[in-house]
Amino acid sequence: MSGNHTENGAIIHVKDLVAKYGDTTVLDHVTFDVARGNIFVILGASGCGKTTLLKHMTGLIPAASGVIEYGGKNIAGMDEEELALMQRGIGIAFQSSGLFNSMTVGENVALPLVEYGEVDPRLIDSIVRLKLSLVGLANAQHKMPGELSGGMRKRAGLARAIALDPPIVFFDEPSAGLDPIMASGLDELVLNLKALLGITFVIVTHELDSIRKVADQVLMLDKGVVIFTGTVEEAENSEHDRVRQFFERRPDEFMTQRNI
Ligand SMILES: Nc1ncnc2c1ncn2[C@@H]1O[C@H](COP(=O)(O)OP(=O)(O)OP(=O)(O)O)[C@@H](O)[C@H]1O
Ligand SMILES: [Mg+2]
Repeated sequence: MSGNHTENGAIIHVKDLVAKYGDTTVLDHVTFDVARGNIFVILGASGCGKTTLLKHMTGLIPAASGVIEYGGKNIAGMDEEELALMQRGIGIAFQSSGLFNSMTVGENVALPLVEYGEVDPRLIDSIVRLKLSLVGLANAQHKMPGELSGGMRKRAGLARAIALDPPIVFFDEPSAGLDPIMASGLDELVLNLKALLGITFVIVTHELDSIRKVADQVLMLDKGVVIFTGTVEEAENSEHDRVRQFFERRPDEFMTQRNI
């Protein structure tokens, strides 16, 4: 049973995932596959459950029910050690940068290397400098997070997420708060990491330009339900109102239409 997904190239398999906060259902039988080496983009209006989905996929919140499989193994059935091993193979940059304010930017980026990596301590400084320069923060290594702008903190969070070159990277709105040049640089970075290292990305973003440039597959949520999965081209030609509305981009309507 579990062999199928890995054989058809899926690196993550999600089936009938139900997520709840208390009695409120936030994700309702969500089903999809993320193919290995793909850039998989999650779309949807504010409050529809995108961050909740990432938190479940990364094992930070246990599902109410359903399946999330990595290499055919359901994370619900993993013991602590297996979960930690799975999480070692993923990089996560959440919506808020999640940096530790008491450490320098460089120390924050070094954290996964120090914690998990069997990385030679003598190499850590060069790796940190490399990752920071990839996100345009070459000069921020010795600064404190509090001294950076919101966009810079965000980029430092991205550098930390890719510190260990994990095979799967999750980004929650990576370009929010970045200027257009930085945002397009980030797209290039993602495409390069995909091409050079075969990294799989799961990205939440609203940026149409970026989606058109990088997405192999898009998934669109509406009030916790999947209303579309397919390529960008398929999304652009979708008959579904909400999908069309997003791609024809009437952003104000789209973004302010809040869900309960
Ligand atoms: N910790 C929590 N406890 C209770 N409810 C929550 C919690 N986190 C999120 N929610 C609710 O779950 C729903 C989905 O939230 P989520 O953060 O996943 O949305 P989102 O799609 O990421 O939105 P945005 O685009 O604004 O980041 C919202 O109604 C939100 O209020
Ligand atoms: Mg969110």
